[in-house]
Amino acid sequence: MDSCGPMVLDALIKIKNEIDPTLTFRRSCREGICGSCAMNIDGINTLACIYGLDEIRGDVKIYPLPHMPVIKDLIPDLTHFYAQHASIMPWLETKTNRPAKEWRQSIEDRKKLDGLYECVMCASCSTSCPSYWWNGDRYLGPAALLHAYRWIVDSRDEATGERLDQLEDPFKLYRCHTIMNCAKTCPKGLNPAKAIAEIKKMMVERVV
Ligand code: SF4
Ligand code: FES
Repeated sequence: MDSCGPMVLDALIKIKNEIDPTLTFRRSCREGICGSCAMNIDGINTLACIYGLDEIRGDVKIYPLPHMPVIKDLIPDLTHFYAQHASIMPWLETKTNRPAKEWRQSIEDRKKLDGLYECVMCASCSTSCPSYWWNGDRYLGPAALLHAYRWIVDSRDEATGERLDQLEDPFKLYRCHTIMNCAKTCPKGLNPAKAIAEIKKMMVERVV
């Protein structure tokens, strides 16, 4: 341990460098920003680069994110997960003419994005969700839905109706049964379940 950094990712890198060069995992930033080192450590989906070795007692079991096809060792196949993210149109959609300088936003409206924009798309939440395990082919899952809400609630976006229309589906949105594993596991302290609840609320309000 004297020659190992303090995080689980450091231990994995040490094992790869000194013991088993075939050990395969994703990592890039090493500071909880790129989202690539998500894995299941001692039963918890989290980011290996910000999970301290001092949080572990005794032997530790490390698995790839649950219920995903595995490419190799700790690397899940995230193709479908990213396609779901793309499907919610993760960009600013506007109809009015482009302003001369920038799309402006009040301080209050900008605050509505707090707790949403910080998501690093690590997939820890979606792969901790039983609804996503069983219906991940059609249920979008907490990560994609958190991003959907991030754009729905953005005061500058002009496609709110279309975005809600797209989610009005028994599987895409309504397979969330507020199990809350997503909020419990998110290594960034975000609450995808709350974002999903807000979307459901908007669905009801626009009908009333
Ligand atoms: S909400 Fe949290 S757990 Fe889910 S993808 Fe974003 S950062 Fe990862
Ligand atoms: S290496 Fe980037 S989040 Fe862990």
